[in-house]
Amino acid sequence: MIRRAVRTGVDGSPASPNGAAAFSLDTPADPVPAELDRRRIPAHVACVMDGNGRWAAGRGLARTDGHIAGEEALFNVVDGALEIGLRWLTVYAFSTENWRRPPDEVRFLMNFNENLLSRRRDELHRRGVRIRIAGRPDRRIPRHVRRAMDEAAALTERNRTMTLTLAFNYGGRAEIVDAVRALVADGVSPNRVNEKAISSRMYFPDMPDPDLVIRTSGEYRLSNFLLWELAYSELVFSDLLWPDFRSANLYEAIVEFQRRNRRYGGVEP
Ligand code: FPP
Repeated sequence: MIRRAVRTGVDGSPASPNGAAAFSLDTPADPVPAELDRRRIPAHVACVMDGNGRWAAGRGLARTDGHIAGEEALFNVVDGALEIGLRWLTVYAFSTENWRRPPDEVRFLMNFNENLLSRRRDELHRRGVRIRIAGRPDRRIPRHVRRAMDEAAALTERNRTMTLTLAFNYGGRAEIVDAVRALVADGVSPNRVNEKAISSRMYFPDMPDPDLVIRTSGEYRLSNFLLWELAYSELVFSDLLWPDFRSANLYEAIVEFQRRNRRYGGVEP
């Protein structure tokens, strides 16, 4: 269980103890419901953590406060994922399109993600979590943010209990473009271009395709998330705004996933 007080300032850095920052206390994962079949846990769950801004607006708070509240949700979900033995969890933290957000929010998100990794990496490491960052390196990402990401990844690279991938400056189309560029750079001839050749040039070729994708906030779209990898993923949409999402909701989504019949284009057995 991760139980730790979290204080974060409006710029994404830790607030002074008497600052006016949001304050939250991590809570342990919810009880695992009896209907969740622990023998059929999906290998990989991916989440679009959407709705932080609307959550904050509904409370008269700044959008950035919504992201701070979203951290509590994320680590409750991580706790729940570890509890049920999920091996791969990927979360969408910043898209290649999110540079279009107001500059203050972009700056906040850069610092926030750095700060979050710096504060959480030791505990994640202790719990056997491998941290990975999937996305385009970009000169717009401040050097200190890239350094914190590299350090968290290096510290945890040997862990295998669960892989937590932060999709950061990530775009599904950009990833496919990058794979195609790698194919061309490798001099692969057209008749050797196939799905395996492309898959092996994605950001993390060892990452299994997500079995289940969860998007919160009542929006029914993928927003450029893992477009190649989601070909046969089951999609679950939640009306909850991300800061209200908890491990109990992860379990509900997995129970729903376990009810689905995946045919991969074939017929029922
Ligand atoms: C896609 O919606 C959603 C994302 C790229 C997730 C963004 C998440 C954050 C900024 C918060 C991260 C929080 C934590 C705790 C690390 P979109 O808004 O980019 O796309 P849309 O315009 O299609 O809705």
